[in-house]
Parts: sequence; structure tokens; C-alpha cells
Amino acid sequence: MIRVAAVGDVHLGEDARGRLRPALDNLAGHADVLLLAGDLTRHGALDEARVAAEEFAGLPVPVVAVLGNHDHHSDAADDIAKLLEDSGIRVLEGEAVTLEVGDQRLGVAGVKGFGGGFAGKCASNFGEREMKAFVGHTIERADRLRAALKTLDTDVRIALTHYSPIPETLRGEPPEIYPFLGCYQLGEVIDECGVDLAIHGHAHFGCEQGVTPGGVRVRNVAQPVIRSAFATYGLGS
Ligand SMILES: [Fe+2]
Ligand SMILES: [Fe+2]
Repeated sequence: MIRVAAVGDVHLGEDARGRLRPALDNLAGHADVLLLAGDLTRHGALDEARVAAEEFAGLPVPVVAVLGNHDHHSDAADDIAKLLEDSGIRVLEGEAVTLEVGDQRLGVAGVKGFGGGFAGKCASNFGEREMKAFVGHTIERADRLRAALKTLDTDVRIALTHYSPIPETLRGEPPEIYPFLGCYQLGEVIDECGVDLAIHGHAHFGCEQGVTPGGVRVRNVAQPVIRSAFATYGLGS
């Protein structure tokens, strides 16, 4: 059994230095890998990212992350990704990583994703160029997730995103903002590629558990939802 720990939306700042570390130090007893589902910072500032890098560096298990919208706020996402990578945290944006866990191979494909909404209540690629740019970003990020998943030939596969692939894990959020919390295109890719688990964050007031139309387990690990340093899930044999 592969034990996956995951958390998103830790939104760290200078005043949060050392806050998560005590719970993370004994991670090896609970998990084989730690996934970070984006929004590691509050405003995407490098000082905040430095705190995140310190919290998640040098852990006893591999750490794999995607960034969230907050991490993009200061237009420094590339610098944040590099800073985290320099601390040994793998940051995925349309890429995949393969990890050996015991005698099994775990693949994680990650992308930030984007909003756009869900079947029947979604933005469409029509009208103003700003609207087409919005939906274009939605589609492009879903395409990147597909490409990343298709590179994986592992026993177990996980899709890691910041935005939600389904509306079910958004329950508790105002329905009016669902189009800003996720998009159906991510869910379609997850079903098309047949992953074993989909992890996302972003929906602080959503709920933890859902399932795609194709039957893939989805977990919203936003920290305000899971209310702990991380949630753990078992996968594989
Ligand atoms: Fe967040
Ligand atoms: Fe977010």
C-alpha cells in the first residue's frame, strides 16, 4: 500500500514560520510521499515562499507540489517554483514525476489548473477576447495535465491540481463562485486517463470527498477543509 499525505492552501507568511514543521517531522510514520496542492503563500511573495520552502524542505519523504492562484499573485511564480525546487521540493506545472515506493511505482502528474465552471454552468470560448483568453487558459492547463499523465507508465497514478476537477468537493462554497473554483475539463482529462486519485485544493469552504463522473476518487485537501497538517490516503496493493 502506498501512503499519500496531502495538504493545500497552507497560505504561509512570515508569522507562520515553524507552524507546520512539528507535525511534518514524523511524516515518515504516516506517509511515503507528501503532495502540496498549491496556495503555499498568501500573496505570492518570495519572502512567503521562503517560509514555505523552509517548512517543507528536508522531510523524510519526497515532496511534490503544484502552485496555486495566490502563488501567482505577485507575478513571481517562476521564482517561487525555483526557490522551492532548490529546497528539494518538486514543483509540477504540466509535468509528471515517478517515485519508487517499496516494490511499486507511483506517478504524480501536476498542473495548477484554472476556473471555468462545470457542465451546463461554465464559461465558453466565445465573445470578447478577454473571455476567450480566460477559457483558453482553462483548456491549455487541462491539456497540459493530459500530456503529463500520458507520460506516466506506473502502477499507481495521481493527478495533483490546485483547482477542482468536479463540483462535488466544492459543496459549502457559494454556487455563484463555482466557475472560479474549478473546471470540468480537468475532470474529463482525469477520467480519460484513468488515474487512481485526484487531489486538489483552493476551495477553503468546500468538502473533502467527491468522485468524477468516471468514478475516480477526488479529495479536496485545502487545509481549512481537512483541518490538520495533512490528510493521508492509501493507494495500490
Ligand atoms: Fe487557497
Ligand atoms: Fe487558491
